[in-house]
Order: sequence, then C-alpha cells, then structure tokens
Amino acid sequence: MKGVVLAAGKGTRLYPITHSIPKPLLPLANRPTLYYAFDRLKEMGVRDICIVVGEMEQQMRDFLGDGSAQEVNLTFVRQTEPKGLAHAVGFAKNFVGGDPFVLYLGDAIYGSSFKSYADRFLASGCANLNIVKAVDDPSRFGVANVEGDRIVKLVEKPKNPESNLAMAGMYFFGPQIWSVLPDLAPSARGEYEITDAIQVLIDQGQTVLAGVYDGVWFDTGTLDSFLETSAFLTGGNSLVDPTAEVTGILGKGAVIGERARLKCASITDSVVMPGADVVVTGSIQHAILAGRVRRDGSVENQILQEGSGVEVAS
Ligand code: DAU
Repeated sequence: MKGVVLAAGKGTRLYPITHSIPKPLLPLANRPTLYYAFDRLKEMGVRDICIVVGEMEQQMRDFLGDGSAQEVNLTFVRQTEPKGLAHAVGFAKNFVGGDPFVLYLGDAIYGSSFKSYADRFLASGCANLNIVKAVDDPSRFGVANVEGDRIVKLVEKPKNPESNLAMAGMYFFGPQIWSVLPDLAPSARGEYEITDAIQVLIDQGQTVLAGVYDGVWFDTGTLDSFLETSAFLTGGNSLVDPTAEVTGILGKGAVIGERARLKCASITDSVVMPGADVVVTGSIQHAILAGRVRRDGSVENQILQEGSGVEVAS
C-alpha cells in the first residue's frame, strides 16, 4: 500500500507563523508535524509516500529531502490551487498507479496505530474504508451514516447532522476512486470534496466501509488546537531543546525549540519556535512565538512573530 499526505493548505488560522514555516513542518513537542504522520504510516507498512504540496513546495522539499532520514521514500507533487481534498488527491494519481493507498490529512495527529484498519481494508479488497470517530460537534466535519460495517451516506459539514460520526481525516482507497474524480462538481463552498467522491462510490454500489476509531485525534490548525496537541504530546510537561537558551520560569506545557533564545518572567502552555529570539518582560501564557519578539508586559492567547505585533486570537 502507498501513502498520500495532503499538505497544500495555507494554514491561515496560524498566521503569521505559517507565512514562514509551512504548517505541516511546524514542530509539535519539537518534532515536525509531518513526522508523526510518517510514524503512523510506517506502522501500516507504508513507506512510499507522496506529499501533495502547495505554495511552500520549495521549503517542504528542502526540509524533507527524499525522506530517507525518516525511513520513508518521498515524492512531491504540486497542487496548483487549494481547491479541495478531492482535487488535491488527483495530483497523486500517477504516483499511486493501480495500488491501494491511504490518504492522510497532513495536519492530523492521532494517538494510536491504524494497522488493524489497514489490514482490514486490504483483506476486504473493497473500494474504500474511512476512519470515523464519534464527536460532539459533527457539523464541523464530513458526517457518515453507518449501517452495520458500511457507510451508506456522507454529507460534508451538514447543518443538521444525522449522526455523530465524523470523517476523521484518514481514508483507504482502491483504484475505483480514480474514475470518480474527473466528473466531480464543486460543492456549495466551492471545493472538490472527498466526501462527495466517496458518495459517488456508494451510489455506484461499491463497498464503502467504516472503521470506527476511539483513540485521540487532533487537528492542529488553530492556536487552541495546536497548543492542545502540543500538551498531549508532551504529557503536559515542559520541553526544552538542548540548544535553546532560556531565562525564566518554565511552567507546564512550555516547549522551546532548537536554537531559540527566550527571556521572560515565566512561560506556560506555549510554544517557542526554532530559532526564535524572544524577550518578554512579563509572563507568556497560551501563545506561539516565532522570529524576533520584544514585549513590555505579558503575552497571552496570541501568535506573535518578528516583533510585527501581528496578533491572532484563536
Ligand atoms: O479533519 C477532518 C475533515 O477534513 C473531514 O471531516 C472533512 O470531511 C474534510 O472535508 C476535511 O475538512 P476541512 O474543511 O477541515 O479540511 P481542510 O480544508 O482543513 O483541509 C484538510 C487538510 O488538507 C489540510 O492539512 C490541508 C490539506 N488541503 C486542503 C485543501 C482544501 C490540501 O492539501 N489541499 C486542499 O485543496
């Protein structure tokens, strides 16, 4: 089985840091986000991985190289514009060829292995198996109606969800999907939706299975979710790269990256990016800092970079 990782989003909700660091490379617990995806893929026996990249193609290629340092073989393809997940996966068609593949959203972090789901999909020989998870707020996701072990209906971000099972960002496909993509129309939000493509498979009478997942799942796209994911991965502890220089009290969930320099009264529940140079006279709480930052007073609930004063509340 091959792997396709979608990493062409712009990461706008984490601006300004995602102007300079592509979101899939942002370190979580001092490891690039994508390395966690590689871990999950390798557990399934997947080593040949295609990364669908966007505007940040060159930074992604320069950083990840051929993947050998992470024991994976990487191929990069460029999605011309971020027009939706079904549009993005289309760029991986030549890479995948006739093989089964797992589609993985590059900003997702999971707490446990998917090997049993991968094995079940491969043994079934079916067109598609999707990981679904019961959530409290299904209208933010693709939502699946499940009967027995099958998905019988899918709706993207429904106002009135018919089930609480969210599409959890991991999809296993056979080659049947390729014939569906060319005829897909954009959705109401103007995107080519993977949920719509899967609905076509269902309408064709193909077997589309649900893999219900009980484990931890985060998407890392906002200040709050990024810090929540970081806290999960560090177990709430502080973590300081050995090359960082820190003056100040390190509280719970403080993560300081490689070569970062930080002076502050105290820091809690916050991430200082690699190479950052931060001087804050007060405390830092619930924040992400990158580049050069100088502040009199405290920093709370902000994403800050380059002393620009650009602030993003979650
Ligand atoms: O997180 C799970 C949800 O992901 C599913 O429940 C939904 O059914 C699915 O549509 C998707 O919803 P989002 O609207 O949250 O997806 P988002 O735009 O955040 O994109 C997910 C990832 O895919 C992200 O890492 C960026 C990448 N991407 C996205 C688009 C739209 C691309 O590589 N190319 C694209 O064109």
